[in-house]
Amino acid sequence: MSDETFRLLVNGAEVTVEADRDTPLLYALRNQLGLKGTRFGCGLGLCGSCNVVVDGRAVHSCDTPLWSVEGKEVVTVEGLGDTPLQRAMIDEQAAQCGYCVSGVVMTATALLARNSSPSETEVRQALDDNLCRCGAHNRMVRAVVKAARIEAARTEAAQTEAAR
Ligand code: FES
Ligand code: FES
Repeated sequence: MSDETFRLLVNGAEVTVEADRDTPLLYALRNQLGLKGTRFGCGLGLCGSCNVVVDGRAVHSCDTPLWSVEGKEVVTVEGLGDTPLQRAMIDEQAAQCGYCVSGVVMTATALLARNSSPSETEVRQALDDNLCRCGAHNRMVRAVVKAARIEAARTEAAQTEAAR
C-alpha cells in the first residue's frame, strides 16, 4: 500500500499526515505529530489507554484507522489545558503509575461533555472499558464525580451572577 495524505483537526489545529490509510490514529499522533500523551497499551481496543476524543466521542485510537478520521476533530490529552477534571484527578491522587490516565481523562471528558452531572453509576459505566492495572479505578471515579460537581457549582455561580 502506498501512502496517502490525510487532513484532520487535532487539538484545534489543522494537520496533514502522510501514511498508509490503515495506519492507526495512535501511531500518527505519537510518531508523526509528537503527541506522546496518548498511550499504547494493548493495541487491540481492549484497555482504553489510547483513548482520544473524535467528534465528541471517546475512541480507541489504536484501532481507529486514519481513513476514518479524515476531516474530523480529534482531541488528545494535550489539547485539554487546565480543567477541573485534571485537577480533581490530582486532588484524589488518582494516578499511580499514570500509564492509563490520559485514556481515562479523555473518556471522562467525552462523558462530561454529553452529561454534565453524571451519577457515580454513569461514571463507572463510562470508565468500564478503561483498565487500570494499578487498581486506582475507584479514585478515578471519585475524581470524575468531583469534577462534575465543581463544574456544576461554577456554572450555577456564573448564572447567579448574570441574573443580578
Ligand atoms: S492500546 Fe488501544 S485500547 Fe489498548
Ligand atoms: S495508574 Fe497505573 S495503570 Fe492506571
